[in-house]
Amino acid sequence: MSSMKEQQLRKYGTVVMLFIFQVQIFGLDVDNRPTTEVCSTHTILPGPKGDEGEKGDRGEMGKPGKVGPKGPKGNKGVVGDVGDQGIIGKIGPIGGKGKFCPLCQGSCASRACTVCDCGRYRKVVGQLDINVARLKTSMKFVKNVIAGIRETDEKFYYIVKEEKSYREALTHCRIRGGMLAMPRDEATNAVIADYISKSGLFRVFIGLNDMEKEGHFVYADNTPLQNYSNWKEGEPRDTSGHEDCVEMLSTGEWNDSECHLTIYFICEFLKKRK
Ligand SMILES: *[C@@H]1O[C@H](CO)[C@@H](O)[C@H](O)[C@H]1NC(C)=O
Ligand SMILES: *[C@@H]1O[C@H](CO)[C@@H](O)[C@H](O)[C@H]1NC(C)=O
Repeated sequence: MSSMKEQQLRKYGTVVMLFIFQVQIFGLDVDNRPTTEVCSTHTILPGPKGDEGEKGDRGEMGKPGKVGPKGPKGNKGVVGDVGDQGIIGKIGPIGGKGKFCPLCQGSCASRACTVCDCGRYRKVVGQLDINVARLKTSMKFVKNVIAGIRETDEKFYYIVKEEKSYREALTHCRIRGGMLAMPRDEATNAVIADYISKSGLFRVFIGLNDMEKEGHFVYADNTPLQNYSNWKEGEPRDTSGHEDCVEMLSTGEWNDSECHLTIYFICEFLKKRK
């Protein structure tokens, strides 16, 4: 089983590189994951603020309690021996040393650092969640790509089975380092047509449109049609004036269609030049 998979993986190394590139763009950095979740649960509620006490004898160091919520800001006191350990223990971590908070390690100027900076911690966790979600989306894309893909000497082709408008489809291909497929010769057109029909589909958007100038079709990269086209008989026929985008049918024939329709589409990716 694995040797075939490995072969595929090697074969589509380029696409996987694209994926890795994307991971870099998105700044996914799973190594950022903090190791302890000191701030995620608060089981101890803050007690009422006590009267300011006189500086007492140094008490015994109590056991560090669970990290509690930040209490009300007290009057500025002298950094020194910790007094009244009993009351402080109820309130939470105040009275302990800086090392209670992993975020403060190394970054704290003095023993005065006793309160965990949970706001910053939550922000990191929130960003992580976003990154993980993006990573999952990318993984899904790569899995699908490896499962079904076509190629010519120069390019890979991939049908994205998500219903999107022409513009959304264009963006989808672009952010993955590709383009909506632009068949410029019969051989390529045949590869795509076969791919569509073997996938059991009837039509997909390709990278061709006349949005700029009615009847003047250009590829998605703005290059004009040259000596190849494969319009279905009677097409393009835009009587309503709304059919400015192009779909390829499973026969390989082209049909001008409405850009806002949401259908599957096909991306192309340039193979790396040697
Ligand atoms: C037209 O097609 C032929 C092959 O059929 C190709 O050699 C030629 O370069 C094409 N011309 C243009 C302008 O693309
Ligand atoms: C061509 O596109 C138009 C507009 O979307 C549609 O009404 C027509 O059925 C299409 N033709 C074919 C053969 O699918």
